[in-house]
Amino acid sequence: MATERTFSILKPDATRRNLTGAVNAVIEEAGLRIVGQRRIRMSQAQAETFYEVHKERPFFGELTSFMTSGPVVVQVLEGENAVAKYREVMGATNPAQAADGTIRKKFAESVGENTVHGSDSAENAKLEIAQFFQDSDIVG
Ligand code: CMP
Repeated sequence: MATERTFSILKPDATRRNLTGAVNAVIEEAGLRIVGQRRIRMSQAQAETFYEVHKERPFFGELTSFMTSGPVVVQVLEGENAVAKYREVMGATNPAQAADGTIRKKFAESVGENTVHGSDSAENAKLEIAQFFQDSDIVG
């Protein structure tokens, strides 16, 4: 398996609790490299575009208002099998079901405020990275 990239967001519940470094330590300990990183305030339009696939879900309004409620850290992670690796490191979407040692088990507060996002496929990773990064801001 060749080196791959995935897209990550440290969500507002992580930045509010000053957990950027703690989450990044778990990411790096898992062997993923943070090759792009920016702290931003996501606009409503950006959040709606990013989560468009969930637009018909009952939690869409809650999701976009949470994601715009405070700073987030957008990241590009690189490594062998990075998409699947990061999903394993994040743990289940619902922290109550997340395995020991995962980011969501350690830090997440609820299914909505679940500390991190990671791409679900290499194809979506490319689209998500392109929404927030220029190639020149990713240094591998
Ligand atoms: P994420 O990986 O960012 O992608 C979609 C997000 O929707 C997911 O993480 C959860 O944080 C959120 N989500 C999923 N189910 C619910 C729910 N029932 N209520 C609120 N948010 C949810």
